Amino acid sequence: MEARPAETISATENVSSAELFLRACRREPVPRVPVWMMRQAGRYLPEYRALREKHSFLEVAKTPELAAEVSLQPYRRLGVDAVIVFSDILIPAEAMGAPIELGDAGPVITSPVRSEAQVEALSVFDPERETRFVGDAIRLLRKSLGPDVPVLGFAGAPWTLACYLVQGASRDGFPAAKALLWNEPRTLRKLLEKIARATARYLKAQIAAGAAAVQLFDTWAGELDASAYRDFELPATQLLIEELAAGDTPVILFSKASNHLVDSLAQTGAKVLSVDWRMDLAALQQKFGRRIALQGNVDPCVLLSSREAVVNSVQRALRQTNGRGHILNLGHGILPETPVENALAFIRAGQSARPESLSSESAPESDAEEIVEMPRRVPLV
Ligand code: CP3
Repeated sequence: MEARPAETISATENVSSAELFLRACRREPVPRVPVWMMRQAGRYLPEYRALREKHSFLEVAKTPELAAEVSLQPYRRLGVDAVIVFSDILIPAEAMGAPIELGDAGPVITSPVRSEAQVEALSVFDPERETRFVGDAIRLLRKSLGPDVPVLGFAGAPWTLACYLVQGASRDGFPAAKALLWNEPRTLRKLLEKIARATARYLKAQIAAGAAAVQLFDTWAGELDASAYRDFELPATQLLIEELAAGDTPVILFSKASNHLVDSLAQTGAKVLSVDWRMDLAALQQKFGRRIALQGNVDPCVLLSSREAVVNSVQRALRQTNGRGHILNLGHGILPETPVENALAFIRAGQSARPESLSSESAPESDAEEIVEMPRRVPLV
């Protein structure tokens, strides 16, 4: 393969986080992998808890200055390579016409969407009007971070948002959403399509405001069996990504417990798949390595353990990809009880790793699907 300029980077070259991030999304060689954590702005940080004592969650999310401030907290303290705008996947639900409350037991949709008439009443809202605070927070972040640090936008994927809209609250397995799938497939399809169209506009506005990449959270995709995913969520996600027409802006698709869905996930149109610790990154890379980058996949529970365990897990994840086409992240959001020093150990371990293959001497990718032999480590005693 012809060598492109990016392949001559040495491990010591100073490349901005934004550049690292975009190169990783495009599967171009990087001197080190970019690192961030899902839910990195949140309760494990004392400065977040302090701010939340004065302001409610929704007040923070809807006040651009506060949202930007909270988004910056993990950047200031941990030096993460990407800053995700502080918001929630349920914010557009409210703009669609399903008001939310965020109590101690998690989010509640005050009138769950269960009938076709209710689906029809939901609106494909104008994000510049209804959720302008999200774009404003991104614009503030862009201004204070400058061009070197990427700002990430996000939204819920159709099925995951539908889980909350239909169920009305977090509930194991989301039985009401699944019952709708089996009892009234047409209604669920309409709902997924509406969410897809609204979310495409919502994310377009985030990209226009300056998001360098956008992530779709399909936390509950794994609740669907492979055929239900293929029949319902795959077309909805494809529609969303098509309508979004993000061009060069990478779309990252996060899902959890979805080993059984990988073939479909790879067909959504997402450039990056964000996966959890149940997935083998090397196997995924062998399968889709030429066209899809990976994000993940350390179990957030490891960060409740020792610094050594954190460092080992980071190294294990990086060895699976050789650091190529890989954004290091957790496999799900960081837990509120995480010690800050372990979050810092995670970020530092990722940023300081220089696997062999990340050096300028590494062989360029062949045109065949990449097969990476992973050296096996001696197990910890
Ligand atoms: O990553 C970030 O730092 C950006 C902010 C962000 C939040 N929620 C803030 C939040 C993001 C990206 C999300 C995504 C989100 N929200 C998901 C998908 C990812 C995942 O974790 O599965 C889901 C399913 C939600 C819905 C949601 N929001 C739930 C179930 C809860 C309650 C459970 C919990 O963690 O408290 C929330 C509330 C929420 N969203 C909090 C934060 C920081 C906690 C609110 C508080 O401060 O009390």
